[in-house]
Amino acid sequence: MIHKCLFPAAGYGTRFLPATKVLPKEMLPILDKPLIQYGVEEAMEAGIRTMAMVTGRGKRALEDHFDVNYELEHQIRGSSKEGLLTGIRRIIDECTFSYTRQIEMKGLGHAILTGETLIGREEAFAVLLADDLCEGRDTGVLAQMVELYKRFECSIVAIEEVPMADIHKYGVIAGEEIEPGIFRINNMIEKPAADQAPSNLAIIGRYILTPDIFDILRETPPGTSGEIQITDALRVQADQGRVIGYKFQGQRFDCGSPSGFVAATNHFYHLSRR
Ligand code: G1P
Repeated sequence: MIHKCLFPAAGYGTRFLPATKVLPKEMLPILDKPLIQYGVEEAMEAGIRTMAMVTGRGKRALEDHFDVNYELEHQIRGSSKEGLLTGIRRIIDECTFSYTRQIEMKGLGHAILTGETLIGREEAFAVLLADDLCEGRDTGVLAQMVELYKRFECSIVAIEEVPMADIHKYGVIAGEEIEPGIFRINNMIEKPAADQAPSNLAIIGRYILTPDIFDILRETPPGTSGEIQITDALRVQADQGRVIGYKFQGQRFDCGSPSGFVAATNHFYHLSRR
């Protein structure tokens, strides 16, 4: 039902300089796998096979990662290392990847609008921010949201309770809890000060968006930080009762910050040793 996933991946990753001077932040590995691959695998678990990436200058490594490397594969064929490429090979065989570049950094809303040319206007689509690394409890977070989309057929954002001391880092929602963990959103604010925040429910980097969002984004003026914010565009849909907030089942690591990155590394290391 949801066939395409958009990956905004044009950001500079300044919090990880100098590591991200040449290396795209989405290519930073948690153990042996780059963040972007975790994201693509989560999208695949949700039944999605069409991956659309909004990249920028210096992000060529992303395209090369989701392509064959004949020389390397030839070198390790028949050796004990061959199995290490099985996972990524399966992704390349099963999915299609397309790319477009965001020329100027004008915010997440602008990045999503840049992806319109890859996504089209026919159907709802997923958006996944790879630096929010999510591990679903029984199924992946995007798979949980696709199930919800079948019921509500409107835009959906993943939400999580965060400490008020951190609330200014997120888009924040207010809404009515219509079922346990499911909110009909009636307001959303991008990065409010703690005393302006309508709740402690923060948006995390998983969205399902209906395609009318593109027209709304075109009309959305720059907001917080002078950037075009997806949160502001979604508020237009929320005013019409067309956005659901979903407290996902699972765990999120903010791999855009060193502490979240280390926590994810430890978590997946312990999982791999079980
Ligand atoms: C973006 C969104 C914000 C959301 C966050 C989740 O912010 O603008 O609403 O809460 O992702 O990670 P960023 O972290 O890119 O500043």
